[in-house]
Amino acid sequence: MKDSAEFAIRARGLTRRFGSLVAVNEVDLDIPTGRIYGFLGPNGSGKSTTIRMLCGLLRPSAGRATVLGLDAARDSEALKNRIGYMTQSFSLYQDLSVGENLQFIGEIYAIPRRERRRRVGELLSRYNLAGREGQRAGALSGGQRQRLALAAAVMHRPQLLLLDEPTSAVDPSNRRDFWEGLFELAERGTTILVSTHYMDEAIRCHNLAILDRGVKVADGSPRALGESIGTHVVEVRADNADAAHLALGKIPRIVSLTRLGSRLRAQIPKRIAEPLAIVGEALRNAGIEAEINTVFPDLEDIFVAVTELREHGRDGRESGGTPIRDSVIPRGAAESRAETAPARSRDYARDDGKGEHEGHMEGSER
Ligand SMILES: Nc1ncnc2c1ncn2[C@@H]1O[C@H](COP(=O)(O)OP(=O)(O)OP(=O)(O)O)[C@@H](O)[C@H]1O
Ligand SMILES: [Mg+2]
Repeated sequence: MKDSAEFAIRARGLTRRFGSLVAVNEVDLDIPTGRIYGFLGPNGSGKSTTIRMLCGLLRPSAGRATVLGLDAARDSEALKNRIGYMTQSFSLYQDLSVGENLQFIGEIYAIPRRERRRRVGELLSRYNLAGREGQRAGALSGGQRQRLALAAAVMHRPQLLLLDEPTSAVDPSNRRDFWEGLFELAERGTTILVSTHYMDEAIRCHNLAILDRGVKVADGSPRALGESIGTHVVEVRADNADAAHLALGKIPRIVSLTRLGSRLRAQIPKRIAEPLAIVGEALRNAGIEAEINTVFPDLEDIFVAVTELREHGRDGRESGGTPIRDSVIPRGAAESRAETAPARSRDYARDDGKGEHEGHMEGSER
């Protein structure tokens, strides 16, 4: 595989089995240099396993990955000095202080003493940890820990950073700051691969791959992904959202229905030319007043289209007949889901007309 300057990571057929489980299934990746690339997927979709193979920490069962021009499995020692890896759980020494942790990481990378001291000072200040050098790492808040972990990961100025759910225990304001830091790094030329459950983080990535049960089901920029899905998205604002939900749930051509507080989002296969007419008629017949608009798919819509609907052949590629997949976003997350709702908080349920619901998302780990 060539083009190591253009692509920081290239993978072909990357596969990892654990016994009979295929955790990562023939994944191809082309991750451009100097960009932020996201892995979006529910629990157990293979994000961490893929990242560990790309770091050279886990051997692929099949396929290969070239990372910064090196074979990730064969040249893992050489690779270590050129990449920074932030594990999913905090992996620094809880009993050492902030300063001691950074000094220690600097020693591991054999940074000479004087330069090490300078570098640690610089990182403490950049990641807003100045004044906390003496504090035990185990006593830091979730956000402070993540900043310390990021400071440790960039100690040796790696060209590539692999961040495995770096913000899972971080509040929205700290997550925003953390992402500002990532953008700064990318602007200075660092390539960043970051896994996340959060839609609002995934949408910030230049490009992303959506993983589902070990398979890469889609990739591209958020814009391109939105353009490529096989469904129209119609947003419905009704005073009586419950009644609208009930009425639209009976329409077979609506292949997915997502409730967001007082709003609903309905997906209708692209081959149907007039999606608004279908929704409008269903609401009129039920005597429901509502404002309806076709909208550009957001990541949540894309996620449903490339996972659930594709799996059941209801994404517009063939005619359906299977029951509607009805997605309910928990009320707390509903109105501002793009800012706060992690993908795993989606509560997928199937409405087969008998009022029977089936929890789903966490079950993707099968
Ligand atoms: N060392 C292992 N031995 C056996 N099975 C494993 C091992 N590591 C991962 N798995 C399995 O592989 C699948 C993918 O796991 P992975 O940790 O890569 O998912 P993930 O997308 O990172 O999930 P999460 O969002 O929960 O972190 C899961 O079913 C998991 O149980
Ligand atoms: Mg993981």
